Amino acid sequence: MSAVRFLLNGELRAEQSVSATMTVLDWLRGIAGLTGTKEGCAEGDCGACTVVLGRMRNRELRYEAVNSCLMMLPQIDGCAVLTVEGVATADGTLHPVQQALIDADATQCGFCTPGFVMAMLAYQQGAEPPSDALIHEALAGNLCRCTGYRSIVDACRHVAVDPSDRRGVATSQTATALSGLPASKDYRSGGQVFLTPRTFAELHQALAQYPDAILLAGGTDIGLRVSKNREAIPVVISTVAVTELAAITSDAQALTLGGTVTYTQALPAFDAHFPALAALVRRIGSRQIRNLGTIAGNLATASPIGDMLPSLFVLNASVTLASQSGQRTVSVADFVTGYRKTVLAPGEIIATIRIPLLTSKHCFAAYKVAKRFDQDISTVVAAFLLARSGTTVREFRAAYGGMAARVTRASHLEAALSGRAWNGDHSPDLASALARDFTPMSDHRGSAHYRMQVAVGLLRRFQIETTSVAPARVEAL
Ligand SMILES: Cc1cc2nc3c(=O)[nH]c(=O)nc-3n(C[C@H](O)[C@H](O)[C@H](O)COP(=O)(O)OP(=O)(O)OC[C@H]3O[C@@H](n4cnc5c(N)ncnc54)[C@H](O)[C@@H]3O)c2cc1C
Ligand code: FES
Ligand code: FES
Repeated sequence: MSAVRFLLNGELRAEQSVSATMTVLDWLRGIAGLTGTKEGCAEGDCGACTVVLGRMRNRELRYEAVNSCLMMLPQIDGCAVLTVEGVATADGTLHPVQQALIDADATQCGFCTPGFVMAMLAYQQGAEPPSDALIHEALAGNLCRCTGYRSIVDACRHVAVDPSDRRGVATSQTATALSGLPASKDYRSGGQVFLTPRTFAELHQALAQYPDAILLAGGTDIGLRVSKNREAIPVVISTVAVTELAAITSDAQALTLGGTVTYTQALPAFDAHFPALAALVRRIGSRQIRNLGTIAGNLATASPIGDMLPSLFVLNASVTLASQSGQRTVSVADFVTGYRKTVLAPGEIIATIRIPLLTSKHCFAAYKVAKRFDQDISTVVAAFLLARSGTTVREFRAAYGGMAARVTRASHLEAALSGRAWNGDHSPDLASALARDFTPMSDHRGSAHYRMQVAVGLLRRFQIETTSVAPARVEAL
């Protein structure tokens, strides 16, 4: 049995006696006695539990904000963990981020403040340009019930514009110390097992040995089982350290993402090849969620409102599934078979996701409608792909989430538009075609009628954006 080893505010810690599914938040507060990190929602929504995680990525130390309430302790093996207790200097001098919050009067009851400090610290360490859009993005995963956000944003603006405030946490000593830590592959405690295989072969072996194990990637879905439901999962197998699953590659034909690629890691490639998808991905959860959550995890969950699925459907993406007995490739559209159901067989994992690149003839758009702009699950999510010959539709693909028990293509709509003029006219038969494609349900996110209206509205938006001279994305307004 090995211990979980990590640096906590610069100090080496080795833990070998707590439950393998204890959350990082519970460990920090209950075992380490670091109660600055707070529990607000225990489901990744409020950001009060935000800590900064330093991880080696391509031999570089990267600091990212994460929700400690969603992470199991063995997930931080080999990482540097920074909490609010570790950001001031030993003599008590506050970190510039803390000082900026004080100077901007950006705290009242203080419950949210440690989370904001850590989200701001991660933003600052990333050395991003000091734009309001990026500040907004960096802070969107943190809620404050009393201060109001203007003063918090002001504080973040202050630390963003002054590089001298970027007091170092990304030290080379940390990278050296992390590189020297022995990796925990097999953490066991009280009958629970948490395996962290490093290679494909080890992963397949672990899955064969424990067929009932829970496969864990970022844990932004699975983590709720321990954070919210307090389940003591007997066996967890983490994919995060499997080297073969980490690659992002592209050639003239396609972008290929490995099975552990997170949203944050994929974003530069999406920005380059699929800007509309990148805009949508920036609305998946918060940065804290996107720093952990993987594209493969979103696919495997096969949620009817999984935000990646409609885009991957219309882009004709495919997945390579791997098991001990070999590999097979299936289209993402065939991968999802029903409500949270996929073709994944026991012992099989998503090894790669291949997304064919768009040609200059293609127009692609992806839209998300939710009750809030930030940090919300979709009511309806849609993606469209159009290729024209002159003004005539040569190819049209549409897929919707939130309209049925699973994400599906809108085949009647596609047929209705095939060969038609694409000129922005919106005849009623398109709404009728959509009504034949979907019989949406009513729930707390929206009534069936509302969902149909949104589905029609999004198609209309795509038509306007692809036919008007100066297309406007609502997100930019
Ligand atoms: C606060 C919050 C906000 C969220 N917001 C959104 C949102 O806006 N839009 C959205 O679509 N989702 C959202 N989610 C859901 C979640 O973040 C995503 O579905 C995410 O992509 C899941 O990835 P993960 O790596 O965290 O998956 P995990 O939780 O690790 O796993 C999820 C499932 O995928 C399986 N799995 C993971 N990797 C593989 C693999 N390589 N092969 C086979 N199976 C695999 C696991 O076994 C498990 O069944 C949100 C979640 C939270 C907590
Ligand atoms: S406690 Fe709310 S996000 Fe973790
Ligand atoms: S200061 Fe009270 S919740 Fe933010």
